[in-house]
Amino acid sequence: MFDIPRKLIHGIKNAAKITVLTGAGVSAESGIPTFRVAQTGLWAKYDPSDLATLEAFRRNPRLVWNWYEWRRGLVRESMPNPAHTAIVEFEKKVNIFTLITQNVDGLHAKAGSQNIIELHGNILRTKCSENSRIVSSWVDKEEEPPRCPNCGAYLRPDVVWFGEGLPHDALELAVEASQDSEIFFSVGTSSIVQPAASLAVQALQSGALVVEVNPDETPLTQYANYALTGLAGKILPELVQQVWKED
Ligand code: OAD
Repeated sequence: MFDIPRKLIHGIKNAAKITVLTGAGVSAESGIPTFRVAQTGLWAKYDPSDLATLEAFRRNPRLVWNWYEWRRGLVRESMPNPAHTAIVEFEKKVNIFTLITQNVDGLHAKAGSQNIIELHGNILRTKCSENSRIVSSWVDKEEEPPRCPNCGAYLRPDVVWFGEGLPHDALELAVEASQDSEIFFSVGTSSIVQPAASLAVQALQSGALVVEVNPDETPLTQYANYALTGLAGKILPELVQQVWKED
């Protein structure tokens, strides 16, 4: 059994507003590799941060499209894990609950989470690289990437690449939910990619209790009120069980 401080259990039980920020670590136990571990197989020689950029797409659209095609395959085959399920339980128990995710895999929705802010888009959505219009079908001419049926530009995944701005409304809602939370969880994120990483700091500055769940240390660890060291798929279900066991 994971040792969770009594004071934290009590705090969660009595909180009316909880916000959870998740990152790639939450999907790791579903078999989707995180961004900062070395890739395997065909993609071993590439660094994701060199593929998830507009420059990379302009330089070699086919390579970037194919990498996303591979990741889409992983996502379609993967299932939510106990961390996703525990977050669904949080939402059922807490009065005002917001889930902010940097993940583009849609696994939170697949698990049943409702109030989700997707900060970095969704890999299963495709958009025109010229005008960002969402496209749901196109003629398959075995071209990679395929072309926009409206204007003929290349299609690309509807995700935020390094160097691109986040969707304005999503970011505004995320900031609001972070500043307004009583308890803010930062789960499975390296806390280095901005502006997502700053949400925990804004929560702290607004007086929230900040809890980190991660097997490794991150830049947030030293500032968090609680750092629960371990896998999200182990710690979060344990937390739910210990907080709401007698409900
Ligand atoms: P990273 O891949 O940078 O970090 C994953 C974090 O999860 C690390 O801190 C790991 O220690 C932790 N981790 C790994 N396995 C875990 C587990 N089972 N339980 C809990 N934690 C675990 O992913 P993010 O921080 O999400 O952006 O990266 C942020 C953004 O940078 C991503 O959304 C993506 C990326 O480049 C875009 O694509 C725009």
